[in-house]
Amino acid sequence: MNKKKVLILYGTRYGSTEGISERIASILGENEFDVLVVDLKKPPANDEYLSFDNYAGILIGTSIKIGQWTKHVKNFITKKKDALNSFKGKLGFFVSSGYAAVPEHYEKVKVEYTKDALNKLGVEKVDLFDAFGGLMDLSKTSRMSWLDKKILVMVGKQTGLETDSTKEITDLRDWIQIENFAKEFLQLL
Ligand SMILES: Cc1cc2nc3c(=O)[nH]c(=O)nc-3n(C[C@H](O)[C@H](O)[C@H](O)COP(=O)(O)O)c2cc1C
Repeated sequence: MNKKKVLILYGTRYGSTEGISERIASILGENEFDVLVVDLKKPPANDEYLSFDNYAGILIGTSIKIGQWTKHVKNFITKKKDALNSFKGKLGFFVSSGYAAVPEHYEKVKVEYTKDALNKLGVEKVDLFDAFGGLMDLSKTSRMSWLDKKILVMVGKQTGLETDSTKEITDLRDWIQIENFAKEFLQLL
């Protein structure tokens, strides 16, 4: 029997959203789905992955920096909004965001960074959405620039986000929340 296909598209700056996408992909894979994961910064040369009719579900994830998605996700959604609105399968969207890990901010960013932002770009169809905390990597091997690290620590101090500059890596991704999201998505398919 042919397995149902799922496409996961993501945009990441420092790797947190990539890790979340891979975890979701492995849960779907364990449940007999055929999953294709694409980093929108380096998509396949061949456009075949864009044949949305082939998929039972599409999941799109992005990180947030100063309130913004990655430009690759924003450009993709802008270009593909009509195809996404008419997509017959299920569409899910998630973000990796610092504020998502702060209980007072979670409910607000969950809607603002996902559903509201999609609606603003003209995408009305979204079947499941959530916001996950991120990986705050202040170590020397981090992909963050010194300025990004400074902003992150500053924002953290203002918002109660746990970015302890004496701790090199703080992983605020809640893997149970992420697994539950993946399971909820596969129930929809
Ligand atoms: C310079 C900078 C700005 C950020 N701005 C925000 C923000 O406005 N809102 C938010 O929720 N998180 C913010 N964050 C936290 C990131 O969204 C979080 O680290 C996320 O996990 C990054 O995902 P990525 O590694 O996939 O790029 C910021 C992080 C940095 C370094």
